[in-house]
Amino acid sequence: MDGFIKTLPKVELHLHIEGTLEPELMFELALRNKIQLPYQNVEQVRQAYEFDDLQSFLELYYQGAQVLQTERDFYDLTWAYLQRCKMDHVVHTEIFFDPQTHTARGISFDSIINGITRALQHGREQLEISSHLIMCFLRHLSEQDAIETLQQALPYKDQIIGVGLDSSEQGHPPAKFRHVFEQARELGFLTVAHAGEEGPASNIWDGINILHIARIDHGVRCAEDGSLVRLLAKTRIPLTVCPLSNVKLKVFPTMAEHNVVKLLREGLCVTINSDDPAYFGGYMTDNYLAVAHALNASKLEMAQFSKNAIEASFLDARQKAELQ
Ligand code: ADE
Ligand code: ZN
Repeated sequence: MDGFIKTLPKVELHLHIEGTLEPELMFELALRNKIQLPYQNVEQVRQAYEFDDLQSFLELYYQGAQVLQTERDFYDLTWAYLQRCKMDHVVHTEIFFDPQTHTARGISFDSIINGITRALQHGREQLEISSHLIMCFLRHLSEQDAIETLQQALPYKDQIIGVGLDSSEQGHPPAKFRHVFEQARELGFLTVAHAGEEGPASNIWDGINILHIARIDHGVRCAEDGSLVRLLAKTRIPLTVCPLSNVKLKVFPTMAEHNVVKLLREGLCVTINSDDPAYFGGYMTDNYLAVAHALNASKLEMAQFSKNAIEASFLDARQKAELQ
């Protein structure tokens, strides 16, 4: 099984580029940009990565992102992730970035997007990894702030396939972002949103009915609502599930209690993804292996996760056919 999973061609659909910042690169960038970190060394950073919930993770994640200052930093971050993709046989990836985390600190939109897209282009040319970029709005900030971010992104519209919604789910339901998602859809962006990670199944309904999302990021709490599970099975609206993340952030107490294989067997278009691999202890292959080992999935089922991800991707029909 392990050899089968390692070489299985994979598609990643839920990955925050800021969440790929490994402690080693964090120190390198802190040194380069003369930023004082609240840690003495790499081991101390790793020891700090014990989380009680989403919020306790987000605090360290936003703190870590402060070392990202220049276009070169965003390039180096993205290039390091793509090299990991190559090792894991990831052939296509759709990555999130959180511009507000950086523009609020005075970093230009230009530096962020040029650094990321230059690395993605090199990934296509040198590693044969195709990719799309999705811009996320931070849900703990106002809708007005998201609208201004959408405006800032317009000159780069060709480089961004869709918009998403991330950060603290509790207290910030999808309806808060109704207008900005409507504007984004009118401009031609595809839409996704984190929903049903820590928040209730009603956030998944609202993501579908109010934000008209093409995919649900996480969505594991759909299991609390039988009619929603039936709708997801029937429509095959995809869920981008992140197993190691869910255990680290205590959405499930252990991997053995995760529902990803159960949802697969119920006919949902569930996929396996790494979310913030530098913080949660594993990239794509690690997530696939953890699921296979803890949940007794067959090779056929593990391959189905990868097929689902091709189906759920924002590639066109011809590109999907090439990967199948
Ligand atoms: N930002 C980065 N990772 C996230 C997650 N798992 N949920 C919400 N926001 C995030
Ligand atoms: Zn996420």
